[in-house]
Parts: sequence; structure tokens; C-alpha cells
Amino acid sequence: MRSLTEDFIETKQAGRRVVALTAYDYPMARLLDEAGVDIVLVGDSLGMVVMGLPDTTQVTLAAMQHHTSMVARAAKKALVVADLPFGTYETPAQALESAKVLIQAGARGVKLEGGVSHQAHIALLVSEKIPVMGHIGMLPQSVVKEGAYRIKGRDPSGKERLIQDAQAVEKAGAFSVVLELVHAPVAKEISSLLSIPTIGIGSGQGCDGSILVTHDLIGLFPWFTPKFVHPRATISQEISRAVKEYIKEVQTLPKV
Ligand code: KIV
Repeated sequence: MRSLTEDFIETKQAGRRVVALTAYDYPMARLLDEAGVDIVLVGDSLGMVVMGLPDTTQVTLAAMQHHTSMVARAAKKALVVADLPFGTYETPAQALESAKVLIQAGARGVKLEGGVSHQAHIALLVSEKIPVMGHIGMLPQSVVKEGAYRIKGRDPSGKERLIQDAQAVEKAGAFSVVLELVHAPVAKEISSLLSIPTIGIGSGQGCDGSILVTHDLIGLFPWFTPKFVHPRATISQEISRAVKEYIKEVQTLPKV
């Protein structure tokens, strides 16, 4: 049987861009699936946009398992990928145990952050038939350590490290790799060096696909929108309008 990696390499060779968005619950996953996205990511960004946390580092495996099961119930065609949260893949063996929990919850694959440092982790998961999406560049799970979300790969040594990370992820057998906040010319160069698709977020148009946090795309988290996102809707305003109308109607409804 063909592997997911082979399918994604073929997608890239055919010049078809991969479209990915995040979902954390049934209705959103169903809407994305019915609209035709290729990948629904149960991202640990749920820590910020659903749980109201400052970053992703407090998201637990139990929370990811809970949300993955909701998304998996909805997705009929899209590939459901779930993030391995912070601290749950310190060693290859721990990565395997954690990944099994998310696969059991309904994910078809998992995503983890790291390149050369996580080549062995990815290779073990792939050898156990668990498809892996890599994630390099700005790593949200390292933001507390790094202090800020910064563009990666502007300097020659940063660029070289990113190329090595990307090649390590591919060599380990990942079916795709997210490039987050990678300097656009470097993202383009990495995309030309790899056979697997690169899926960019804030990394320019030279990637083989694109991923966004759905809440950012549709204006559902109006308190913060990353600079590189151009929202296509303002759902938060629609919700406020409907709720205010409802409040007014209930408060002014004559008693019978
Ligand atoms: O957690 C997340 O949503 C991600 C992204 C790449 C969007 O990792």
C-alpha cells in the first residue's frame, strides 16, 4: 500500500498546493471538511484561541486527545493531523506513546516541532506507521525560552540550520513540513530542495502549501491577528451583532 509520504510527494510533483487549516471541534472541522481543505490540523494553538492561555506550552495530551476526537468525528475527506503538545515527546519512545494516544483518538497523523533534534523521533513514528508532519522555523512551543515570535533564517547561519532541519525531517520520513515564520526566500529555497511539500505560515508564497489558524482567517479571535494574515471574514462582529440583537429582543419583549 502507498504511504502518505508517497501521496504527498506526488501532490507536490503535480504542482497542486496543499491547503490546511486548524479546527478544534466538530462544527468547525465539518465546515472545513465540506469546504474541501486537504488537512485539518488539531493545532495546539487551541491553547490560545480556545483555552485563553498565553501560549501553547500548557496544552496537555489529554486536551489534544479530547479535541482530536471531536474533529475526527467530523472529517470525512480531509486528513486529520494532531499536534503533539509541549513536553510529550522528549524522547523518541515518549513521542511514540503520545502519538498513539492521538491516533487512537482519531488522528491520521501527528505534527511535532523540531528538525535535526527530532529526526530520530520522526523516524521511529514513521517506522511504526504513524504519519508525521514536521514543523520547523519559529517553534511556538519554544516561545517561552526564545522570548518572542521572530522570523527565522535571515542570517546565513540561521538559513543553513533551517536547510539542515528541513532535510532531516524529510530524511526521517515525514510526509510534509510546516515552515513557520521562515524568511520568504529561504522558505522558497527549502521548498525547491525537498521532495515533500512545505506548508508555509507567514513564510511567503514560495511554499508548496499554506496553513493558517482558522480563527485568524475568519476573524473569530479579534483580540490578536498575526501581521501576515489577511482575514476573509469578521465572524466575531457577526456574533456580537446577533447576541446584542437577542439581548435587546429578550429585554424588550412584552410579557403575555
Ligand atoms: O498549532 C497550530 O495551529 C500550528 C500551526 C502551524 C498553525 O501549529
